[in-house]
Amino acid sequence: MIKVNDMNFVRMIDKKDIKKEIKRLGKEINKEFKNDSVEVIIVLKGAFIFAADLIRQFRFDHNVHFVQFSSYAGTQSTGNIFEKLSLSADVKGKRVLVIEDIVDTGNTLEFFIKKLNEKGPKSIDIATLLFKKEAFKKEYTIRFRAFDIENKFVIGYGLDLNEKHRNLKHIYQLKGED
Ligand code: PRP
Repeated sequence: MIKVNDMNFVRMIDKKDIKKEIKRLGKEINKEFKNDSVEVIIVLKGAFIFAADLIRQFRFDHNVHFVQFSSYAGTQSTGNIFEKLSLSADVKGKRVLVIEDIVDTGNTLEFFIKKLNEKGPKSIDIATLLFKKEAFKKEYTIRFRAFDIENKFVIGYGLDLNEKHRNLKHIYQLKGED
C-alpha cells in the first residue's frame, strides 16, 4: 500500500503483468496491421508510458502523432472535454490506431473519434491499457484492451493524480472507494 496526498492506494496491477499483457496485445495488433501503413495517434498525457512500451512491439509500418484532451479534475471525470493539442496529421484514406491509457466513460474518445471521422480515415481502431467496462456506455468498440478494471480511480504507469505520480512503476487503485 502507498499513501498519496493523504489517500491510500493499493497495488492493483504489477509491472510484470503490465509487461506480459503488452507483449500479448502487441502480437494481436501486429496480426491486424501486418500489411498496412498505420497512423498511430497517442492521446497525451496519460498514455505516454504505455505507448512507448507498446509501439516498440510493433512490426508494421507506422507514423506516430500526438493529441491531448482533458476531462479530469482530481479523481473525477468532469464530462467536459477540452482539446489541448489537436491532430495535425492527414489521415484521409489511412488506417488509424489510437492509443489511450484508460477508457472510462468513453467521453474523450467519443469526442475525438467524431473529429477523426470528419477527416475520412479508412479505419479507426483503439488500443487501451485499461478499460472500465462498467463505466463505459458508448456505442463504439474498444478493440485492443490490456486490462478490464473495476470502476475505481487508478494511478501509476502514466496515470496521474493532479498531474503527479505518473512515474509509478505499478498501477494502484484508491482503497475503499465505492
Ligand atoms: C484521461 C485518459 C483518457 C480519459 C478517459 O485523460 O487519458 O483520455 O481521461 O476518460 P473518459 O473515458 O471518461 O473520457 P485526462 O483527462 O485525465 O488527461 P491526462 O491523460 O493528460 O492525465
